[in-house]
Amino acid sequence: MMGGEFLTHWAAWAAVGVGAAASIAILFVRFGRGKHRRASDEAGDRPNTPPGTLRTLGRYEVGRAIGRGAMSSVLLGRDSASGRAVALKTLALGDEFDGEALAEARRRFLREAGTAARLRHEGIAQVFEAGEDQGLAYIAMEHVHGHDLRRCTQPPGLLPPALVLRIGAQVAEALAHAHRQGVVHRDIKPANVMFDPTTGTAKVTDFGIARATDVGRTRTGLLLGTPAYMAPEQLTGQPADARSDLYSLGVVLFQLLCGRLPHEAESMAALLGQIAHQRAPDIRSVCPQLPEELALCVAAMLSKRPDARPADGRQLAHELRTIAARLD
Ligand SMILES: Nc1ncnc2c1ncn2[C@@H]1O[C@H](COP(=O)(O)OP(=O)(O)OP(=O)(O)O)[C@@H](O)[C@H]1O
Ligand SMILES: [Mg+2]
Repeated sequence: MMGGEFLTHWAAWAAVGVGAAASIAILFVRFGRGKHRRASDEAGDRPNTPPGTLRTLGRYEVGRAIGRGAMSSVLLGRDSASGRAVALKTLALGDEFDGEALAEARRRFLREAGTAARLRHEGIAQVFEAGEDQGLAYIAMEHVHGHDLRRCTQPPGLLPPALVLRIGAQVAEALAHAHRQGVVHRDIKPANVMFDPTTGTAKVTDFGIARATDVGRTRTGLLLGTPAYMAPEQLTGQPADARSDLYSLGVVLFQLLCGRLPHEAESMAALLGQIAHQRAPDIRSVCPQLPEELALCVAAMLSKRPDARPADGRQLAHELRTIAARLD
């Protein structure tokens, strides 16, 4: 997309208008993770650790690979004691961090996964446990049926608007539950929402994982990814809170409804500038058939100012369900 990473990076910061050193460290990590994401997109489902070399992980028997992320592989697993099927998410933290940053990444990973394991909600993929084995950090979680939402973000995969709103409502309720426990997701995006078309249910994955891997330094360092789903305040290094998750959900809803992102640009600098300063387009400029109340609801979620967004996920879920009922 662009050359001169260092230059681009500083241009991006100029666009956002922020220069605090602490903030820069946070953005470095994000872009580092993004580099892997782009590489892995091209490599398809090839995992960090080839599944053939792993027979067991902790007390789980390891099966086939079912997904691949920026610095992770997701494998099918089976709890050898109970026979229960699980999804095993493995993170090769050693590929990404070294020295004290690696030790810190490990500590954070286990702590954040422990926090996520306390969340129990029908809209959240249950985390059973986290551990380390054979040099890999792993999370054993509920194996969710269906597929993630990435395939529903552009034609011909777009879903009917009423169904999109019902999925959004389930995600908003799951977020409300987590937020009430003081847990912020920080990485709401289509890849982290699983949808089962046979039952119409949606489940959020990866609570706390973005925070678990947000440690000051990565080996890959200053590289480019996409901040497309991040709230403006996350881009400027301020701590994400519940309202940042609702912004990200707004981006997801915009994309599921319209088949495009609210902000699209030719360069990272332009994209960051748009997210920071430019009002998101009205969904009706892309999809004129959508109702005004939905346009206002999505616009509120995409507000630059956190306090102009919906106050809470449960209230938002109610609003989305009400609009969905009128669309039927
Ligand atoms: N609990 C689960 N059950 C079934 N499939 C899952 C589960 N968790 C993740 N997956 C699948 O594995 C894929 C990879 O997940 P992973 O969290 O490693 O990466 P990602 O969310 O796609 O990207 P990133 O690493 O940037 O967060 C997901 O997109 C999803 O399709
Ligand atoms: Mg994920």
